[in-house]
Amino acid sequence: MNIAFEEFGSGQPIVLLHAFPLNRKMWLPQAEALATKKYRVILPDLRGFGESTNFADINTMEDMANDIAQLCDTLKIEKAIFGGLSMGGYVLFNFYRLFPRKVAALILCDTNCAADTNEKRESRHDLIDKIETEGSQALISEMLPNLVSQTTKTNHPELVSAIEEQFRDVNPKAAIAALRGMAERQDHCGLISEIKVPTLLVFGEDDTVTNLEIARKMHDQIPKSVLTVIKNAGHYSNLEQPEQFNAALFGFLNAATAG
Ligand code: MLT
Repeated sequence: MNIAFEEFGSGQPIVLLHAFPLNRKMWLPQAEALATKKYRVILPDLRGFGESTNFADINTMEDMANDIAQLCDTLKIEKAIFGGLSMGGYVLFNFYRLFPRKVAALILCDTNCAADTNEKRESRHDLIDKIETEGSQALISEMLPNLVSQTTKTNHPELVSAIEEQFRDVNPKAAIAALRGMAERQDHCGLISEIKVPTLLVFGEDDTVTNLEIARKMHDQIPKSVLTVIKNAGHYSNLEQPEQFNAALFGFLNAATAG
């Protein structure tokens, strides 16, 4: 198996899955905080991203979920808390369907249980065409402007530049493989009412990729869920407002792991 990962701290395992087209580094503000509080944090690079250089013509969310199960087996982790942002969340819906017993709690951030609409699928194919001619620059021009909030653009241009750097580093072929995988992903909205574990939903108030309507629908359907809205954050709520995000995370973990 060629999944790269990084570990921080020791204690209860928590596995965090990154968004598209980022890599495991997007979780550093959380991993560093969690490692000081008796958590063993595992940050994988999903296939094709970061240092995980393996990918096929299409990388499905289910393939990625199977990679994570294999990584847990290799690390001898039988059960963990799993978190994922956006594409990381799509992978987790598959993971929960396939391996519910491995999941102690879920953290679903700026994500959506629904499959792509036809319109969204078409826009992914348009983006694939652009990447084929322009490379990763197409991701920067087409996606990045809509991802972060106006507050982040104004107050933290250095963060926007750091995110742009991660976009630039992506292998265009791996990005295409994941876009195809996202376009074909199955709908999991019928499954979420059966999620039995404590679940934290975290959404940026200004996220336009996913949005609060989606968040509230999932909150209504997932029995043991809490919803936290992060102010002045877009799609990358954990990076844009790490203090608010970490407060929500620790509040949830303390309650979910109490007793
Ligand atoms: C992500 O942040 O992972 C992507 O925006 C997800 C998507 O394109 O649906």
